[in-house]
Amino acid sequence: MRILSIETTCDDTAVAITEDGRKVLTDQIFSQADLHAVYGGVVPELASRSHVEVISYLAERALREAEVSRSSLDAVAVSYAPGLIGAVLVGVGFAKAAAMALDIPLVPVHHVRGHIAANYLAFPELEPPFLCLAISGGNTLLVDVRDYTDMRVLGATRDDAAGECFDKTARVLGLGYPGGKPVDELSRGGDDKKYRLPVGNVEGHPYDMSFSGLKTAVINLVHGAEQRGEEIDKPSLCASFAATVSDSLVPRTIRAARELGYDRIAVAGGVAANSRIRADFEAAVKKEGKTLFMPPLRLCGDNAAMIGAQGYYELLAGHTAGSDLNAYASRELDA
Ligand code: KG4
Repeated sequence: MRILSIETTCDDTAVAITEDGRKVLTDQIFSQADLHAVYGGVVPELASRSHVEVISYLAERALREAEVSRSSLDAVAVSYAPGLIGAVLVGVGFAKAAAMALDIPLVPVHHVRGHIAANYLAFPELEPPFLCLAISGGNTLLVDVRDYTDMRVLGATRDDAAGECFDKTARVLGLGYPGGKPVDELSRGGDDKKYRLPVGNVEGHPYDMSFSGLKTAVINLVHGAEQRGEEIDKPSLCASFAATVSDSLVPRTIRAARELGYDRIAVAGGVAANSRIRADFEAAVKKEGKTLFMPPLRLCGDNAAMIGAQGYYELLAGHTAGSDLNAYASRELDA
């Protein structure tokens, strides 16, 4: 089963062709990062316009590079939520037109379900059920993956997403956008105990998370130092920050795995590329005697292959849409 998949929820235009949900024939990504860097963050209107300019070309290139004919495609899958609404609409519009023109099924895929499915591409042996922590620029969710299309959100951030917090920290330190990678790189030369930062907890909801207090603490620390004319030790602040985010994510995930009796733990999303979080997960999961699944870095960030992977299982479950499919800025993962 060959699926043409489309991803345009934020600042990456991506088109992939996958086979049977696990094999990637081509994975085309056009990153808009340079376009938005000058503004210090994603400008939604520019993102939508750039998707419009690039998407047809990327789809043509995907077909060419995979040496796949249009008539051999079995379905079109598209990330229809959540994301920047104008950006998502471009992908949904393109996918609807492609499905209609080719007279094949249209499969809507929740973007975070796609991130989780990136693990199926990296680990052919992985099958549900498992526990997954999905950490990206816009979402931070602890998910009970009962089956390929049956998921329950156990906990979520009550405010900022983990990636958003990385991006704000990078911004206040003048490290540019997107900020996760530069913070990660700088943190490697720092002392992770130099700055004491708060781990956010939500009383009575052990699986929920909060990152706004951490973000405010970093901003206040930097501004306070500037006002006093003190130098910030940026590598140590980045290291302390990454360690604090990790302390908020890793023990919580381990606790959920213990309480729900899961032996397999997966991590997904752009922030899963973070070296501190990866190292802490590796150590903690090993100590528990459980098995860890973490996609390689290129499958952590937004891509369309993961939408094709999840799209395959959504299609098998009969989850298709008509030409009235809409795009949504927010949508529950387990709706
Ligand atoms: O999954 P993704 O590409 O897009 C969304 O679906 O949101 O995630 C993007 C987020 C950004 O906030 C980016 O700063 C963060 O992932 N990120 C990282 C790293 N690489 C990307 N955060 C921490 N460490 C990294 N190495």
